Amino acid sequence: MTDTRAILVTGGAGYIGSHTVRLLAGEGRKIVVLDNLVHGHEDSIIDTAVDFVLGGIGDHALLRSLFQRYDFSSVVHFAAFAYVGESVTKPLKYYRNNTAEPLALLEVMEEFGCKNFVFSSTCATYGIPDQIPITEKTRQSPINSYGRSKLMLEWILADCETAWGLRSACLRYFNASGCAEDGLIGEDHNPETHLIPRVLMALTGEAGPVEIFGTDYPTPDGTCIRDYIHVKDLAAAHAKALDHLANGGNSVRVNLGTGVGISVKEIISAVEKVTGQTVPLVLGNRRAGDPAHLVADPSLAAELLGWRATRLDIVETVRSAWAWMNGPKRGRYATKS
Ligand SMILES: NC(=O)c1ccc[n+]([C@@H]2O[C@H](COP(=O)([O-])OP(=O)(O)OC[C@H]3O[C@@H](n4cnc5c(N)ncnc54)[C@H](O)[C@@H]3O)[C@@H](O)[C@H]2O)c1
Repeated sequence: MTDTRAILVTGGAGYIGSHTVRLLAGEGRKIVVLDNLVHGHEDSIIDTAVDFVLGGIGDHALLRSLFQRYDFSSVVHFAAFAYVGESVTKPLKYYRNNTAEPLALLEVMEEFGCKNFVFSSTCATYGIPDQIPITEKTRQSPINSYGRSKLMLEWILADCETAWGLRSACLRYFNASGCAEDGLIGEDHNPETHLIPRVLMALTGEAGPVEIFGTDYPTPDGTCIRDYIHVKDLAAAHAKALDHLANGGNSVRVNLGTGVGISVKEIISAVEKVTGQTVPLVLGNRRAGDPAHLVADPSLAAELLGWRATRLDIVETVRSAWAWMNGPKRGRYATKS
């Protein structure tokens, strides 16, 4: 059964949030987006039935006014900072925004008796895994402040469950990738650190040559292998998680990945196939803290939520990202800082 009450989506103007909002609103759900636009873009919310509120997740007064105005059944929480490198040099910025600010949101949820929480967690909570594929039983031992800021929120959610019955779906995303095929919404981070858009930007002239960080890893072509999960598949998992919780399901902690590993060189080949251009490359050294393989075992999400990734062709994923790069909106805020 699909929930008919309003859903609060924090960070809904960001990359994954906007694709999820589009899907949820398209299913006829009442969506309210709360985003401070520090990294998001208001015009990536394209469904006119969605209410957009400019503000932060740590603002108690604003949250109370929203919970009074709307009868929220659930919260989907995307809002966070997500630059791993920056989290190492500015840990307090990450603990403040990703761990401390959500406390206000949870406090107001408790006050208003709203007990369903879908959380953007991450494979970064596993750190350097001792097994591949990574299952939910793999030890969570993050190696940077970003991963720790997210893992702490997972723990906080579990404590809130014990204390006041909050139920949560901690969705541990692997590498979000791709965009809506119509090019109307897409990935627009500044700076952009994700591999696929970064490689495409080397072709549009928005960035210089692509540096490959390490070509001597113990992988078939020597470059790092990651699990690229299409953003529309991620969006679909949120709909499943919301329904699971709304129908009284237990809290879940699940990996969202494809289960298929793709190397850096395979991404570059896919880009060259889609664009017909040669990607300018610089072969660089390994980066500290980059494991050779990060690939999900996504079977628990299938078992508990009935969710599976459906977009497994990396060439098609790259094609969708390229459609966005060449789409009508891209140039408009590519320079926003
Ligand atoms: N992109 C990935 O590959 C990936 C992988 C694992 C987990 N995640 C997590 O998924 C979520 C979404 O990632 P994304 O790539 O869409 O990031 P994004 O930066 O595009 O979106 C985050 C949104 O949150 C907003 N925001 C940040 N702090 C806020 C605050 N205090 N109050 C209100 N709004 C705030 C930003 O303006 C932005 O619109 C993040 O929590 C991220 O940690 C992303």
